Amino acid sequence: MLAVSNRDPGLSIQDGPEGETKDRDGLLATACGGLELRSPIMPASGTFSHEMDQVLDVAKLGALVLKTTTFGPRAGNPVPRVSETSDGMLNSIGLPGGGFEHFSESTLPKYLHYGSPVVVSISAETVVQFGQMAQALTLPGVAAIEVNVSCPNIEADGKAFAMSKSATASVVAEVRASTNLPIWVKLTPNTGELVDIALASQNSGADAVVIANTILAMGIDAPTQKPTLGNVMGGLSGPAIKPIILRMVYQCASKLEIDVIGCGGIQSGVDVAEYLLAGAAAVQVGTVSFVDPTALVRIEDELVDFCRSQHHSSVRELVGALEIPGHSINTAVNQMDVAP
Ligand code: FUM
Repeated sequence: MLAVSNRDPGLSIQDGPEGETKDRDGLLATACGGLELRSPIMPASGTFSHEMDQVLDVAKLGALVLKTTTFGPRAGNPVPRVSETSDGMLNSIGLPGGGFEHFSESTLPKYLHYGSPVVVSISAETVVQFGQMAQALTLPGVAAIEVNVSCPNIEADGKAFAMSKSATASVVAEVRASTNLPIWVKLTPNTGELVDIALASQNSGADAVVIANTILAMGIDAPTQKPTLGNVMGGLSGPAIKPIILRMVYQCASKLEIDVIGCGGIQSGVDVAEYLLAGAAAVQVGTVSFVDPTALVRIEDELVDFCRSQHHSSVRELVGALEIPGHSINTAVNQMDVAP
């Protein structure tokens, strides 16, 4: 089961005296992937919707990353589309939706009034479609484009652009040529070449990489002798994958000049601190919001508590500040590169 803190996040957070609120704002403020963020914590694509404004203060979020929109309409994958695992969640939703024109007319306007930067996530079947979508969605109120080249649920066997360095580079270069907005590229952990693919994203014009989408996985219900997902395979997310993605963030942040956004299994403010220490400039939080829709605000409170307890006046002090006795991060990663 996914764990939930007992702490009640409430509908709004009271910071007490005005000075304390100011300290808190200064502590959380950061910059990432070409944007100034009020907080390093934002929802992961597909795990947030405007209806959540009934239970949390949306203006407190670092950014609003919207569910991926596709070039044309998609029905999505067969049910069941989600299933719980011992320490996480499997999903194979299949990017259902009405296509990007429907998205820009009907969905996007519902997110533009909160005051948080809006990040539009796009997926397409061809490089050209990616470029067309990026151009069409470069709209007033859109702060950045997240290029989802990593959804494991739209092609057979979980294949995705982000499994190939050249395919990823082509998509990012086309998007770069089609918009002047910051570009975040969401990569897949389902490759042994993640660092090279992240470098290819950087060299093709990305402003940040999101590490990472879900891990290709499956579940079986033994009594019924059936897979737990209608699409058989899907993406594993949640606490089970956190150590794996943390390692990937560490490896990528050690090599990249652009920002890394960590995404994988965050449940608490201390988890956020771990990602920042590994080198992430900001984080995306997803699966835990299905257990506790107010988790984003609770996690932010916990991050503030952690920083204060460690005498940090800014979350930026944590970024890449991992201490390995006798090693710098680069030394450690270079040694891994030559290990047998
Ligand atoms: O199946 C889905 O809609 C998931 C998308 C993703 O992981 O990018």
